[in-house]
Amino acid sequence: MKKIIPFLLGIGILSACSKPSPVLKNHSYSNYEEVSLKHMDLHLKADFEKKILDGFVLLDITNKSKTDVLVLDSRQLLIKEVSVDDKKVDFILSKEHEVFGSSLQIPIESESKQVKISYQTTPESAALQWLSKEQTNDKTDEFLFSQSQAVLARTWIPLMDAPAVRFTYDATIEVPNHLMALMSAVNPQQKNEEGVYQFKQEKPIPSYLMALAIGNLTFKSTGRNSGVYAEPGMMESCFWELKDMQQMIDEAEKLYGSYVWNRYDVLVLPPSFPFGGMENPELTFATPTIIAGDRSLVSLIAHELAHSWSGNLVTNRTWDDFWLNEGFTVYFEQRIMEAVYGKEYEEMLTVNGYGELQLTLNELSKTAPEDTKLKLTLNERNPDDGLTDIAYEKGRFFLQTLERTVGREQWDIFLRRYFMEHAFKTMTTEEFISYLNKELIDNNPEWKQNAQVNEWIYGKGMPSNFIKPRSAAFDRLDGELAAYKASKDPESFKTDDYSTHHWLYVLRHLPALNTADVKALDAAFDFNQIKNSEILCDWFQLSIAYDYTKSYGPMRSFLNRVGRRKFLTPIYRSMKNKGPEGLEMARNIYTEAKKGYHTVAIETLDELLK
Ligand code: BES
Ligand code: ZN
Repeated sequence: MKKIIPFLLGIGILSACSKPSPVLKNHSYSNYEEVSLKHMDLHLKADFEKKILDGFVLLDITNKSKTDVLVLDSRQLLIKEVSVDDKKVDFILSKEHEVFGSSLQIPIESESKQVKISYQTTPESAALQWLSKEQTNDKTDEFLFSQSQAVLARTWIPLMDAPAVRFTYDATIEVPNHLMALMSAVNPQQKNEEGVYQFKQEKPIPSYLMALAIGNLTFKSTGRNSGVYAEPGMMESCFWELKDMQQMIDEAEKLYGSYVWNRYDVLVLPPSFPFGGMENPELTFATPTIIAGDRSLVSLIAHELAHSWSGNLVTNRTWDDFWLNEGFTVYFEQRIMEAVYGKEYEEMLTVNGYGELQLTLNELSKTAPEDTKLKLTLNERNPDDGLTDIAYEKGRFFLQTLERTVGREQWDIFLRRYFMEHAFKTMTTEEFISYLNKELIDNNPEWKQNAQVNEWIYGKGMPSNFIKPRSAAFDRLDGELAAYKASKDPESFKTDDYSTHHWLYVLRHLPALNTADVKALDAAFDFNQIKNSEILCDWFQLSIAYDYTKSYGPMRSFLNRVGRRKFLTPIYRSMKNKGPEGLEMARNIYTEAKKGYHTVAIETLDELLK
């Protein structure tokens, strides 16, 4: 790129206009190959009236390529002023793309060190959800949380929004003094009088792990380096549910090496959180729908914890390599669950995971067969499109196949080294393959042949060496399901010792039914009284499919309360699949419930119900 002659800087807008505008690469406009971002110092004040964060960010940069422009990502932000090493400069904000936003072009010099951007977010900033008191659990105070993955960090901070870029950060966050602020960093455990909170993240992290939550929160320790944050009214049940967290950390460390992120705390959010969990460093964000009262849904914590290695330590270089984050994490989650709760329990989870994978494979093989490959080619598609069970479940079964091929002992040694040698680095699919070949399977021709690495990664569907998972506990259920199919007698199910996972397996393997059958099942098991969100989600779909209208009231209130997209999408889709009347019901409920949903869920549902 041409150098800007210093005296032309004053007319930065003109000179920069003649340059080609930045191109989108790996879902980011930023020029991270030319300029590195090392550290960020964030200063924001939360205004709950206006629903904005207002302040500035200092970015420490190194101009590696001696280029004359720093390009950042920015979306739904109001950029007020930019200065470089304390000198105000003219900047260019390109026209906003609806997913990727604008490039923010800032003139720099070869020795430029620090860029200051004064800005504020807007009520539209998609990462942020500002909740009224009524939308929280306790209904006493307002709440704010962020969700940055995959490309939403740029909607609350102007930065290089690509997972290939890692930086450390400091932050000062000012909040109304009855609230507490938490981030993906070292966190306070108590409120302070001033409402000003300082944060430090000394490990370099990618932008999608930037996170902020503000609310009336309390803390309780669950062990040596773990704890729970929740609203006061939720604390007791959250604490009880998450009691095994410290044991999970200990088992995870035994498996794949020491936990490097200082503490592991979990923040249980209000029910509109659009995901199950988000692996923000030092502070996993979690949906309250895992608080089931019986600890049956805590594998989600094992999952987010596992990301402390797969994802947060070794990070997918691009969103096309997303399976490196999620597939490894589901595999690691499975190993933690096995270590803490035993093989039989883990097998149930894995078989249910396989059931979900089959549904996804059926769907995608019709609509987007290319998306059934582990390595994606998203180009300019929203990385959200890659968020399917392929990355998670096909990825898990690939690693399970590798484990089976080389034996657990060799595999674990390999994986431990993989995490250690690539800590705080990013990884592409191709780099992983060559590391795997070199360090593991090239050593043994039989392994090499049996692993079928390329078929798994670049092939559609499931490779021929995939072995379906089995669960002894569920083999018993197959018998009960067969008896039920013959008799339609709910007594066929011996439910006394059913866990959540038994129920899910049964609900997902029922034979074709009619309304009377569903009514009889409800009479026997009283599904609408069950408090478990996973079971309810399947039950509502069944009720819709067979016109069991008695569930519609409870379903409506569920959809008005819960914002977790994984539940919303299949329930609304079931209604839509019923034809025009179903679609109308879906739209009616959605119109009422939408105001409580996060943008991430709204975008999916707008598309589904348009
Ligand atoms: N990192 C993901 C969530 C995510 C992925 C958000 C991509 C945005 C874009 C998180 O670790 C996750 O996988 N959450 C799952 C739960 C898990 C147990 C499968 C979820 O939210 O359902
Ligand atoms: Zn995950």
